[in-house]
Amino acid sequence: MHISVVSGDPLQHTASLVVVFGFEGEALPAAITALIEASDWSGGYRKTLLVYPREAAQARRLLFVGLGKRAQFTSDRLREAAAGAAQQARDLKVERFAATLPQADGLSTFNLSHALVEGILLGSYRFIEYKTDADVFEVGECEVLTGSDSEAAEQGAALGQAIVNGVVLARNLANRPGNIVVPATLGIVAQEIGARYGMDVTVYGLEELTAGGFGGILGVGQGSANPPRFITMEYGSEHKAKGTVCLVGKGITFDSGGISIKPADGMENMKMDMGGAAAVLGAMEALGALGLAVHVVGMVASAENMLSSTAYRPGDILKTLSGKTIEVLNTDAEGRIVLADALYYAQRYQPAAIIDLATLTGAIMVALGPHAMGLLSNNDDLARRVIEAGEATGERAWQLPLWDSYRDMVKGDYGDVKNTAGRAGGAITAGAFLDAFVGGFPWVHLDIAGVAWTDSKPRAYTPKGATGVGVRLLVQLLRDWAA
Ligand code: BES
Ligand code: MN
Ligand code: ZN
Repeated sequence: MHISVVSGDPLQHTASLVVVFGFEGEALPAAITALIEASDWSGGYRKTLLVYPREAAQARRLLFVGLGKRAQFTSDRLREAAAGAAQQARDLKVERFAATLPQADGLSTFNLSHALVEGILLGSYRFIEYKTDADVFEVGECEVLTGSDSEAAEQGAALGQAIVNGVVLARNLANRPGNIVVPATLGIVAQEIGARYGMDVTVYGLEELTAGGFGGILGVGQGSANPPRFITMEYGSEHKAKGTVCLVGKGITFDSGGISIKPADGMENMKMDMGGAAAVLGAMEALGALGLAVHVVGMVASAENMLSSTAYRPGDILKTLSGKTIEVLNTDAEGRIVLADALYYAQRYQPAAIIDLATLTGAIMVALGPHAMGLLSNNDDLARRVIEAGEATGERAWQLPLWDSYRDMVKGDYGDVKNTAGRAGGAITAGAFLDAFVGGFPWVHLDIAGVAWTDSKPRAYTPKGATGVGVRLLVQLLRDWAA
């Protein structure tokens, strides 16, 4: 869908559908009030009313969309309301629609336009690449209707568009199945992004991983015919003075559990176990498009976790890049093993921040459900910055404690660390395991296992499937970092 920003009166606009947002219990301009006064619509959050105004407006249809009470208004509410409106526009099969930018105290035109465009585009997303019989109608054009400050609205819309491109890249990667997206695929995508924006991309395959001593990634990947990859993408090295930010993504392109095999029920969704890697790639895409002034190294540790006669086994001991050894108690706790190598590698950049994103544990889904990612950190200041970026974008993160008692739980019997400490505190002990490989550099771990995929559509702008979570949070953090 193409987005443009124009200034004008919604009643004079000639699109076949014009969306008008309204706050609960508040009057709209008199000319509009006349159109809805006999209805039951009163602006309740996400409540809609479709009106055919005949000669009262140029447009054939007006869609009133409720934003709820002004006091409870947030940019996330606008994102949701806008997503719902875009879905209705598609259902109505309109080629072109207009959406009137609302006004709200405390939110700038720039931020409102940003949220509106994100909502419209993210809500319009569907993964239908492999449906040969789908109803493929897509709305072609959306015009954002603004009153005065159309330059700020344009800038907000451009930001939203760039970020959504990153989210869509992430969603597509995580939605595509394991027979299509293998570790090599992530390497190719990284190279494409790098070529677009002049980033330095390196992709290590079996040879380089073996020569380099990436025993964690190699161990997890050794059971698959699709060999592992370790990817780095460097952007903005001229901005080193502000400190280097390393983004690290778990890229398990399919997680069968390995020899500690998972139950068949729901295993198909384990194609999304590269959601952290997808978020890093999506953030790098947006970062390149936006040209932010910050030095970022994106890293992806990718393997396919399979069972075969060459697969790693429970009881195996792996020597990681750091030299530390991992005692494998459960081959299904593979994400932390590939991340161990990547996190250690990150240390060579002397980073001011390491942020890893990983669909790491079922335990985080038990703890937080589908509404927040888990956050573990060794640095309160960095944790706060990440949490704030999450609040600003609606990609919420909730911190869990990382006390030494948890670090003790992952000490190995025969190796330095063991890859599981059992069910109790599972999301935290996974974080405690990772902590052993960050060498004390400021670090935040985001466990996105509960939010990277949705079957239940908790938000209008995250349709069923991969959510692309993490991209918006990361871009917000990097925008704040660059500022
Ligand atoms: N990829 C899974 C975690 C996961 C579960 C992601 C559900 C998304 C949805 C991870 O590799 C895993 O299997 N974790 C195990 C660890 C356990 C064996 C210590 C888990 O959480 O059960
Ligand atoms: Mn697993
Ligand atoms: Zn996994």
